[in-house]
Amino acid sequence: MLSWEEYNTDEAITPSAPVVPPEVIAEHATEAPEPVAINYNQGVAADAEAAAMMADNVNRAKGSIDQIDIAPGLEELEMGAARVSVDEKAMINCRADLNQLVPFKYDWAWQKYIDGCANHWMPQEVNMTADVATWKDPDGLSDDERRIIMRSLGYFSTADSLVANNLVLAIYRLITNPECRQYLLRQAFEEAIHTHAYQYCIESLGMDEGEVFNMYREVPSVAAKATWSLGKTHSLSDPNFRTGTLETDQELLRNLIGFYCVTEGIFFYCGFTQILSMGRRNKMTGVAEQFQYILRDESMHLNFGIDVINQIKLENPLLWTPEFQQEAIQMILEGTELEIAYARDTMPRGVLGMNAAMMEEYLQFICNRRLNQVGLPEQFPGAQNPFPWMSEIMDLRKEKNFFETRVIEYQTGGALTWD
Ligand SMILES: [Fe+2]
Ligand SMILES: [Fe+2]
Repeated sequence: MLSWEEYNTDEAITPSAPVVPPEVIAEHATEAPEPVAINYNQGVAADAEAAAMMADNVNRAKGSIDQIDIAPGLEELEMGAARVSVDEKAMINCRADLNQLVPFKYDWAWQKYIDGCANHWMPQEVNMTADVATWKDPDGLSDDERRIIMRSLGYFSTADSLVANNLVLAIYRLITNPECRQYLLRQAFEEAIHTHAYQYCIESLGMDEGEVFNMYREVPSVAAKATWSLGKTHSLSDPNFRTGTLETDQELLRNLIGFYCVTEGIFFYCGFTQILSMGRRNKMTGVAEQFQYILRDESMHLNFGIDVINQIKLENPLLWTPEFQQEAIQMILEGTELEIAYARDTMPRGVLGMNAAMMEEYLQFICNRRLNQVGLPEQFPGAQNPFPWMSEIMDLRKEKNFFETRVIEYQTGGALTWD
């Protein structure tokens, strides 16, 4: 390999032979386009022709700008327009200026943005040394435990990118409220941190990156979940998609239910429970700590999405037809079934004090909660939570880490003082 010293010479570089053989140059030279002849002496008539062409170009540009269906928030400034009032603000199809954050209408959205920032963390802060030793030790983990780690990183390493792409390319422009958009921007960054965290685990453990990142296309139980989520974003990510009719507003609701209630609200729960159970048993505590922070972020994403869905329902009651409610129930049930199938695939037998049957009951319990949260009837009466410690982890305060490996008081900068 060449080093800088070998390049860094005062001698003029005189290659002993041309890099490209002359016959090749000659062959390609004949393919070069004819140079365009420019007449610099066209005179007045030519000037008039050029001016006419320029005017034509400007008019065409104006015409094409008029034809662009500009996304809400990018409209031209309207000088002297009336000031934005809270009553004008709405979750979807809002015509009030979206470049003005205040006055707030949805204080809860702003509060979630503040809370999300206060929970800030970065993957490199977590010590992975013990995990690397365990992973590389042939006796460090059982085959069943290794399968769980691989499948989890395989699913999540792409799932958070799906969520981020849906936020940025589909949902953001259709949610016409600036304080909610402020939270969506925070959420999008958190999804980037989550993808970073999974990549950091994969790299630290020295896994085959090609195998892990392609699992969402190659392992059926992982692919089924990713395919289901992608199916909920296709129509909205079309740049020509606009809300404003019963059908299109319902399509947006379908996306929100698909991503917040199902993808982030159900598809993440088997993997999170498995990895956190491993951490509780003092195995792979670095990976488990990363998942713990991610779960805390995710529970806020979920709660934000639920609030948005319920606010849209409140402001647009005609969208919430009996047929649509039935469809929403079906979507949440489908998501639960896919997650149960994932649980069976990742736990062919009991492992880490749990098994697929226990996970099935847990997922039915979660399904009931998701249905309840958007005002739909429970579908699994009496389902219990076999893993009550999961709720404790989600409610974790940031002062103390569950695994006690580090203190998590993470707040960049300090409070400004003005005395
Ligand atoms: Fe995430
Ligand atoms: Fe999320």
